[in-house]
Amino acid sequence: MEKTKQTRLDELKKECLNCQKCELGKTRTNVVFSDGNPETAKAVLIGEAPGENEDLTGTPFVGRAGKLLNEFLEKAGISREKDLYIINTVKCRPPKNRVPEKEEKKQCENYLMEQIDTISPKIIIFCGATALKSFSDSKTPISKIRGQIMDIEVKGKKYKGIPIFHPSFLLRKHSLEPGEPRDLMLKDLKNIKSLINE
Ligand code: URA
Repeated sequence: MEKTKQTRLDELKKECLNCQKCELGKTRTNVVFSDGNPETAKAVLIGEAPGENEDLTGTPFVGRAGKLLNEFLEKAGISREKDLYIINTVKCRPPKNRVPEKEEKKQCENYLMEQIDTISPKIIIFCGATALKSFSDSKTPISKIRGQIMDIEVKGKKYKGIPIFHPSFLLRKHSLEPGEPRDLMLKDLKNIKSLINE
């Protein structure tokens, strides 16, 4: 009998919680595996790495950036609990929130790809440059390619992917004027909302 999504993810999580494949295993408080409902999620949203609050709670995007993300999701009509499966490129907090290193991303890649393969979403949302770089060699800044649908392959299966701004960046950009980052973020999320409802 084929395993349910939840069973596959429970097995993967068990392995991930004991992971010591890179140095981050020594300094983490908690592995931050995922948030959301695997059975109802239509999109996988990928961030960079856990920050302090995520490390303390074991849940992705619960700090200041996460709260801002929640506000945008609500405005766009996307349910964090029902529509999304939220994960990070690396599952353990890098010290002082530095960008994850190549080796750390490499050691964590199998968890990321297995999570996507299990969920098999309608669309993959790359939240910021670190998330995008695991799937695309593009050197183009997020500000130039955000909102553009791209073809992505994970474990031999084809997906639609879309880069969006990282909410940490938006914490420093306050304008709501048309064409400014916060306005573009809302447009991108509204577009994602219509794609997942197609
Ligand atoms: N930033 C991320 O990229 N992920 C989190 O979970 C929190 C902040």
